[in-house]
Amino acid sequence: MTFQDHIKQGIPSELPSKKTYEKAINHAPKRMDILSKEEKELAIRNALRYFDKKHHNILAKEFAEELKEYGRIYMYRFRPDYKFYARPINEYPGNSIQAKAIMHMIQNNLDVAVAQHPHELITYGGNGAVFQNWAQYLLTMKYLSEMNDEQTLIMYSGHPMGLFPSNTNAPRVVVTNGMMIPNYSKQNDWEKFNALGVTQYGQMTAGSYMYIGPQGIVHGTTITVLNAGRKIAKNGEPLAGKLFLTSGLGGMSGAQPKAGNIAGCITVCAEVNPKITEIRLSQGWIDEKITDLNELAVRVKRAKENKEVVSIAFLGNIVEVWEKLAEENVYVDLGSDQTSLHNPWAGGYYPAGISFEESNVMMVENPELFKEKVKESLRRQVAAINKHTAKGTYFFDYGNAFLLEASRAGADVMAINGIDFKYPSYVQDIMGPMCFDYGFGPFRWVCTSANPIDLEKTDKIACEVLEEIRKNSPEEIQQQMIDNIQWIKGAQENKLVVGSQARILYADAEGRMKIAEAFNNAIKNGEISAPIVLGRDHHDVSGTDSPYRETSNIYDGSKFTADMAIQNVIGDSFRGATWVSIHNGGGVGWGEVINGGFGMVLDGSLEAEKRLKSMLFWDVNNGIARRNWARNEGAVFAIKRAMEVEPNLKVTLPNLVDDSILNDLF
Ligand SMILES: NC(=O)c1ccc[n+]([C@@H]2O[C@H](COP(=O)([O-])OP(=O)(O)OC[C@H]3O[C@@H](n4cnc5c(N)ncnc54)[C@H](O)[C@@H]3O)[C@@H](O)[C@H]2O)c1
Repeated sequence: MTFQDHIKQGIPSELPSKKTYEKAINHAPKRMDILSKEEKELAIRNALRYFDKKHHNILAKEFAEELKEYGRIYMYRFRPDYKFYARPINEYPGNSIQAKAIMHMIQNNLDVAVAQHPHELITYGGNGAVFQNWAQYLLTMKYLSEMNDEQTLIMYSGHPMGLFPSNTNAPRVVVTNGMMIPNYSKQNDWEKFNALGVTQYGQMTAGSYMYIGPQGIVHGTTITVLNAGRKIAKNGEPLAGKLFLTSGLGGMSGAQPKAGNIAGCITVCAEVNPKITEIRLSQGWIDEKITDLNELAVRVKRAKENKEVVSIAFLGNIVEVWEKLAEENVYVDLGSDQTSLHNPWAGGYYPAGISFEESNVMMVENPELFKEKVKESLRRQVAAINKHTAKGTYFFDYGNAFLLEASRAGADVMAINGIDFKYPSYVQDIMGPMCFDYGFGPFRWVCTSANPIDLEKTDKIACEVLEEIRKNSPEEIQQQMIDNIQWIKGAQENKLVVGSQARILYADAEGRMKIAEAFNNAIKNGEISAPIVLGRDHHDVSGTDSPYRETSNIYDGSKFTADMAIQNVIGDSFRGATWVSIHNGGGVGWGEVINGGFGMVLDGSLEAEKRLKSMLFWDVNNGIARRNWARNEGAVFAIKRAMEVEPNLKVTLPNLVDDSILNDLF
């Protein structure tokens, strides 16, 4: 059977043979055994809905076994044998170019070279799912191969509800992930309802098919490390010889060492998982691996003396590194953490003092004790970090809920007022005021030809567009423009592609619209050989309401609301997005954030040009308008500029209040 026939077949009518559990693959940890007997029966009944009755006998037993063994029903037997990767768009069957582009994106998210736990359909972040099970994947791909441009595929947390009549201007796919009644949105609710098979954690770009490998995050991380470096520079000196200590070599965190190299510092990144460390080493994303703490201290001292630009992975626990470097009096210039604390009890954070293997067993067999160990470890980690910051280390939270979980564990992270944390988040200090408030965010594109030559052409086009824009850019955004031009110039050389032919580039509304328009023209005149998918990380100006991350620099009290993210996805969907998604969870955890995104297919047509202008303008300026209303200076500046360019835009501006007016009122 050809690949196309497989896709068109959907769920096979005859059972494929059972799969062996491939040990060499990085598998999801066993999930919590949280369902009652009745709920387990319900989970089996739910899973069997996808299959003909004649198979129920065999599958019921098999799924019960999976539930027992892995805590979830993945339906491993149905995982197709063909290779998963972003194939050239014309290799996908179907009637709709837009739908084929979406298949290209889905397969990229499940590519073994890209996905964290490909067999459990997890792309990144430990639990960032594209689908809950293989039946959902098969059925979704079948629908995409059948649909036309007057239909919309409706996705409920990985489950394809079906194709519904719509119109050519409507999105081809509408995705919701993990949308819960607010009172049922606690961490254990995810465990329960995900085990039942009725919801999933879509992370940000996993469940929205927009993940492009660690590159997506290298750029943002480079910007963060560079700007953190500028913050600590006493006389504008570069980062050479300075030490950046952090943790995690996973889906996103794995970008840190590469970003450190691009930014020009010494990076030490601790990682407890040997498999992941090996992968990053073999990919060239880290330069060296060290397994012994004494050796690490010696190596770091030498790197500092020689002002080396080097990235070192320490295979072990981050807590021990903070402690060891304090003991050895090694000065850490920049510090952060990227363990997956949005998922603290199920493998996101490995406590110090217990081996990796022991932890994996304990979190399932003795979850209460494991919880205690995590909390104890967080308190220890913070105590060590505090020793460093007392000497001047600049520590920032990397949006992984480190400070939040550390505070919940009783660690010494609260500011004197007892409300704020004593350390800033990277969005509060860096990303928010320097990027998001001006509309700069992680714009991205994917060449569906899967041809690196097309990507090279797009890099060149994007660079030319930015250089042109820069000539007339105001002083306020000059540094941004310079950093982004430098990034795109070095992108080819830095060999950032893992998976699809994709590029990330921070740009503001003007940049995104002009780059997209230039791409559309290049497709129209044949310079670029196939459609391009535009998108972005949800971690952006407008897409995400997350009080401790994307919206942590909103100070009018509205950071606990989620109107912006919801407005954004609604607005994108009627302004021409090819697909839209809205998620609960993502980055900082289930119940802690609402985030959304879009995908837009450019095919060189006039309709695509109209859509990109309308949608990208809204997609950025919605967030700037809200940030402006929160009195953020950069955003007030940016929205006034946007109104000058677009007379149809009329945004409410805030009146600032003198402090003295508030004296003696209460
Ligand atoms: N990179 C970014 O720009 C960015 C932005 C926002 C948030 N984040 C957050 O960063 C976190 C990491 O994301 P990810 O995709 O890399 O997740 P991930 O789960 O793929 O990687 C985290 C890694 O940390 C390791 N780890 C856990 N505890 C450890 C410990 N005590 N010591 C050493 N290593 C340990 C794990 O083995 C894992 O490989 C997430 O919470 C994510 O939301 C990242």
